[in-house]
Amino acid sequence: MTLPKPCATHRRRPNHAAKLLEIRTMTPNAPARPLSALPSAGLRGRITVPGDKSISHRSLMLGALAIGETTISGLLESEDVLATAAAMQAFGATAERGADGTWRVHGLGTGGLLEPEGPIDFGNAGTGVRLTMGIAGAHPFASTFTGDASLSRRPMGRVLEPLREMGAEVIARSGDRLPLTIRGADPMAPITYRVPVPSAQVKSAVLLAGLSIEGITTVIEPVATRDHTERMLAGFGADISTEPDGSGGTVIRLVGRPDLKPQAITVPADPSSAAFLLVAALIVEDSDLTVQNVLLNPARTGLLATLREMGADLVVENERLSGGERIGDIRARASRLRGVTVPAERAPSMIDEYPVLAVAASFADGDTVMNGLEELRVKESDRLAAVARGLQTNGVSCGEAEASLTVRGGRVAGGGRVATHLDHRIAMSFLVMGMAAENPVEVDDAATIATSFPSFVDLFTGLGARFSALEHAA
Ligand code: S3P
Repeated sequence: MTLPKPCATHRRRPNHAAKLLEIRTMTPNAPARPLSALPSAGLRGRITVPGDKSISHRSLMLGALAIGETTISGLLESEDVLATAAAMQAFGATAERGADGTWRVHGLGTGGLLEPEGPIDFGNAGTGVRLTMGIAGAHPFASTFTGDASLSRRPMGRVLEPLREMGAEVIARSGDRLPLTIRGADPMAPITYRVPVPSAQVKSAVLLAGLSIEGITTVIEPVATRDHTERMLAGFGADISTEPDGSGGTVIRLVGRPDLKPQAITVPADPSSAAFLLVAALIVEDSDLTVQNVLLNPARTGLLATLREMGADLVVENERLSGGERIGDIRARASRLRGVTVPAERAPSMIDEYPVLAVAASFADGDTVMNGLEELRVKESDRLAAVARGLQTNGVSCGEAEASLTVRGGRVAGGGRVATHLDHRIAMSFLVMGMAAENPVEVDDAATIATSFPSFVDLFTGLGARFSALEHAA
């Protein structure tokens, strides 16, 4: 077994998004907020979860590169996405929230962004910073990026390498980590880039850079990942095509310097947030919960497929198209689950859902084996290690290998305190565990949840879940 990495000790930095946009979503340098989830009675009702994080980031970014006003309803107003809104403002676009909750973005056109006056702090947001580095890296000025302790540990070379190939100069901390400064060349060169890791962020950063560069940028993606960037670029009027590469992958071609047309976007509910509600309903006895308007893009539904194989009672109702994406209402009823083997090929379509799948697997009969998890090592935390430690602390036995996890399902004693390492999904997953375990489960810091799902605790409380912030108060 690989030993987990030591706990993070640094706190997050102030979020300038909150200041710039006058939306208060977090307390700068907030102290850790331990929280316990107590065993819960059945969770019942119909609910909606906030907008999809991937689509929210991209809506703001493409709005900033279009000419005219893009409107966004259902934008996820979480710390990560507000950091992107603040960044777009720092590059000269405007992004404002109306009283009705609709966001209005006024863009400057492809290649039209302005040099920011100071460093841009992305807090915890990997998608925000990597995609914005793609955009900014194709502009002939210097942009400096910073982030919290978690983001500053994560690898940025995967985005910087293609930007360097296109001509950008980079000064970064060793190992290509934040803080770093990028200066685009004038002109930049369009490239053909084969994505070396299955990462929608890398693919998207290259395409977003290509938007501001004359000529055709080509991305070869050997393993399919979420395709929101491609779909949304087409929606904004870019000349983009995708076709099979003949060996199971995809070739994406984008013609640079298009005039992007502003759009009216409705962001569907985030399947990665819905996952916590669905798993909670499956493992808490007497539950019957429907999560409405959830994005069902096939590149995001791996968890649903896996839970169904485990015997979950999951039904998709009212399936329909909205803004070019399939959405639907997902009904989950408490179910007896059984262990399964999750194939490595499925990992990209459920990459953010493994922590909560591991929780579901703890309550299943038999072993669940999850393969192809190498990318989990470089998420907001080393998620493979963090999950394994969290399970063990709560009496669930598991085996952690370099790129796989085996969870032995059955009895979940609970009673443990989980180290979250500044990782929102670790916090939420183990709070869900506490709703169905024999004893409460505590996470050492629930403040990180605001990065992606600020209403998590309120929403669950409204369904009858119980939390306690009193034990071990910091
Ligand atoms: C995302 C891509 C994934 C995912 C992240 C969001 C995106 O990251 O984990 O939460 O919006 O492109 P990777 O590209 O690192 O796999």
